[in-house]
Amino acid sequence: MNPALETLMLAFSGEGRVAAPERALFLGAEAHPELRLWPDLTGWQALKPLAVAWDKAGLRREHVVPAEKWPVVMVLPGKSRDAILSEFAMARHHLAPGGTLVAAMPNTTGAGRFEKELSKATGGITSIQKNKCRVFFAVDDGSWNETLFAEWSALGELKKIPGTDYTTQAGIFSSERIDPGSQLLIEHLPGDLSGNLADPGSGWGFLSSEALKRFPKIKRIDLFDSDARALDCARLNLAGEDTRTGFHWHDVTTGLPGTYDAILMNPPFHDGRTTDVDLGKAFLTSAADSLRKGGRLFLVANRQLPYEAVLDSTRLTWNRITEDKTYKLIFAQKR
Ligand SMILES: C[S@@+](CC[C@H](N)C(=O)[O-])C[C@H]1O[C@@H](n2cnc3c(N)ncnc32)[C@H](O)[C@@H]1O
Repeated sequence: MNPALETLMLAFSGEGRVAAPERALFLGAEAHPELRLWPDLTGWQALKPLAVAWDKAGLRREHVVPAEKWPVVMVLPGKSRDAILSEFAMARHHLAPGGTLVAAMPNTTGAGRFEKELSKATGGITSIQKNKCRVFFAVDDGSWNETLFAEWSALGELKKIPGTDYTTQAGIFSSERIDPGSQLLIEHLPGDLSGNLADPGSGWGFLSSEALKRFPKIKRIDLFDSDARALDCARLNLAGEDTRTGFHWHDVTTGLPGTYDAILMNPPFHDGRTTDVDLGKAFLTSAADSLRKGGRLFLVANRQLPYEAVLDSTRLTWNRITEDKTYKLIFAQKR
């Protein structure tokens, strides 16, 4: 179980802690057995595998947080500074007067620093450290610094990547710039790209958008991402391509629900918290399974990632097309 979640739950056990609430909202919701006993809990989770786990635990989830206030709002924030602060602001926005805001984070993502940040807006804060994580909570006494929360809220608004028309949002992959690995891939794609394509781990849609602009013989691209916020940005970035695109909030490690002529891919190799080469390997397996015979895979990856061995174990022949200091391009074909 996520140690930050274990630590979060400590805020509700013992003297001087937060009383188990009648109603609560959980942003970045992750399932914990004790939460099933809470009478009225609403969860919000942008990441598909965690949302599925929440649903499986029989807990209620909203895809978009309703315009309501709750006496307790809990948050397990993301990793980047802007995403974390904007999630504090989102939690504050949904907190009823006199309510308690509870946040938990691993020390490795700066729990101490962000506790201090939150206390700049809330004043008095209580903190518990355990499991190499910290949970901290503050009670709204009417004196919170709403100007600071408004600044943090703005950090989470949609924004453009400078010099482009691409829309992104704090917290999603490569929200500040076009990923150089993906740029390298686009520059090396062959001119005969056509038919039905998939873009697993599409993020905000760079690969699909550029491919559709450059290769008119592409009939359709299905974009798959586990992060609902990234997919929402992709929808905006591919607006106008409605007839040639499909958007899927989907965990690619569970396979792809289609058969494709070609797959474009810059696979993830961490799950948002830890480096996980197995995640990238699972992407390769899903891609290999869903290519038609003769179908082609166009892959970019960090040079050190051991993907060639995975390709050897599938029915794909592959070539390393090029590499630079950081990335390698591997093109493969299904036998
Ligand atoms: C390296 S990024 C590439 C993004 C995009 N293709 C680009 O080139 O900018 C990998 C993407 O995979 C997504 N991802 C991570 N785990 C996933 C999973 N299990 N299923 C689907 N997508 C996932 C991440 O949200 C991220 O957007």
